[in-house]
Amino acid sequence: MKFVIPKLPFALSLFFSLSLLLVFFFAFPLTSLRRPVSSVAVVDEGIRIRQGYKSYEAYIQHQLNKTQNPKLRKVWTTRDWDRKVRVFSTFFQRLSDVGLLSNGSKALSIGARVGQEVAALRLIGVEDSIGLDLVPRPPLVVKGDFHAQPFDAETFDFEFSNVFDHALYPEKFVGEIERTLKPGGVCVIHVSLHGKTDKYSANDLYSVKPLVKLFKRSKVVEVRKIDGFGLDTEVVFRKNKD
Ligand SMILES: C[S@@+](CC[C@H](N)C(=O)[O-])C[C@H]1O[C@@H](n2cnc3c(N)ncnc32)[C@H](O)[C@@H]1O
Repeated sequence: MKFVIPKLPFALSLFFSLSLLLVFFFAFPLTSLRRPVSSVAVVDEGIRIRQGYKSYEAYIQHQLNKTQNPKLRKVWTTRDWDRKVRVFSTFFQRLSDVGLLSNGSKALSIGARVGQEVAALRLIGVEDSIGLDLVPRPPLVVKGDFHAQPFDAETFDFEFSNVFDHALYPEKFVGEIERTLKPGGVCVIHVSLHGKTDKYSANDLYSVKPLVKLFKRSKVVEVRKIDGFGLDTEVVFRKNKD
């Protein structure tokens, strides 16, 4: 007996192939291809927490692996130093010019690593400035976890950070800023909204909306585009007075 395999008309096979392709793209959108779906949790529209850590200690150790690297620390404190201090000074000088920072401000830089941003604050005249990081670097940076800042409530007039993407718990990161800021104090956050983060980032932010939502006791003062070491957006908040 002879079997005859019917040939599908060309238009019909094209239709089937395109349908298959569409089903594939709906099931696996391009954003989910960047890393395994199982390692990502959406906590809010516009922000994703990377969940690849076995424990909180594993997250801290991962951060320390880079920050404690002696070769990198050498580069950050020599070759990189002047350029980074200069760029940070430009950001802080502008904030000072528009009245959001003053020489009398008590200032904190969160995730300051070797302290270039603290040096910049002091350079433009904000003498009472300190940095916070997992690795201390006296006299510019003290040791501490930004999820539980080692400072009393209402200590600072001004807080800056370009490490929001390193927060495993963004709500704690922001909660601690709002706890340690004085009423009427200013917080400036630099973020990337275009996925330009690295393997040490703990979250990915796709719009300012979820960040603004986390600041429950503050108002947005301004949002502007910047060019800050791979970060593209500056968001300025002022903590409510009551
Ligand atoms: C991308 S680096 C930024 C360093 C610095 N702000 C700069 O622009 O040169 C991120 C920094 O955040 C620090 N960091 C990460 N997780 C932290 C945590 N839970 N508490 C405090 N610092 C943390 C790291 O140790 C590292 O120095």
